[in-house]
Amino acid sequence: MNYRLFFSPTGGTARATELVCGAMETPFVAVDLTLPAARGQHHWFAADDLVVFGLPVYGGRLPQVPGLFDGLRGENTPAVLCACYGNRHYDDMLLEWKTEMEKRGFICIAAAAIVIPHVYSGVLGHGRPDEADLPAIREFARAVMNKKDRTSVTVPGSFPYKKWEKPFRTPEKTAGCVKCGLCQKVCPTAAINDDFVGDPAACIQCMKCVRVCPVGCRQMDMSAVRAYLESNYSVRRENEFFL
Ligand SMILES: Cc1cc2nc3c(=O)[nH]c(=O)nc-3n(C[C@H](O)[C@H](O)[C@H](O)COP(=O)(O)O)c2cc1C
Ligand code: SF4
Ligand code: SF4
Repeated sequence: MNYRLFFSPTGGTARATELVCGAMETPFVAVDLTLPAARGQHHWFAADDLVVFGLPVYGGRLPQVPGLFDGLRGENTPAVLCACYGNRHYDDMLLEWKTEMEKRGFICIAAAAIVIPHVYSGVLGHGRPDEADLPAIREFARAVMNKKDRTSVTVPGSFPYKKWEKPFRTPEKTAGCVKCGLCQKVCPTAAINDDFVGDPAACIQCMKCVRVCPVGCRQMDMSAVRAYLESNYSVRRENEFFL
């Protein structure tokens, strides 16, 4: 069987993996690891399965999501890693990820660094992957399907990995909350309590709760980060593929 795994609070990573798997022209079973309940289950894969896995890059590293890999186990299962990032850079994330996967019984036979919309900016990665990205994505998908050997791919990155600490902050519930509970339901780290207040220690700043709030009362001021990103990283980056 072929499996499409992803963690994707705001949908950019999920869409990128859909495009990669769609271009492989063979059926995939989707496994969405975004919510804690899905990560609490076992996902075991055999040697004749293929796993295409998408994760967003946070701070040039793996997203700091509790239990992200705990339920995953392969038996020399071939895996294709799709590092999805918001047009700044992916730094050491692919190397860190490949190391985690190979500890769990996967062989990373191919990898990609794919630009998706940056959750903190309407400019960085806007509309990506777009029409101009599709030919190279299709070519990559075909090359993966035709790859006969199962050797481990070389990916960029260096160890010790880039230092990045998750910020200690969380979106605030401002006036006007109608207690609908949506923010709590969709939070990937269960960081929102029954009064709909977030825990800055558990929050990964994914912005999902802000996006779903029907009255717009959940807010986090990202204007300084946005201005920094847009003045330094607005030039279009191209996707990269490793085989
Ligand atoms: C906490 C955090 C850190 C991020 N760090 C980076 C980064 O280092 N480089 C980059 O290009 N994009 C970065 N991004 C953008 C994400 O890679 C991505 O655009 C976004 O989170 C959307 O993924 P999703 O739609 O699948 O949830 C970061 C996003 C978040 C929330
Ligand atoms: S509190 Fe909001 S921003 Fe923080 S992890 Fe949960 S959904 Fe994401
Ligand atoms: S989504 Fe918005 S309105 Fe609904 S409980 Fe959360 S903060 Fe309140």
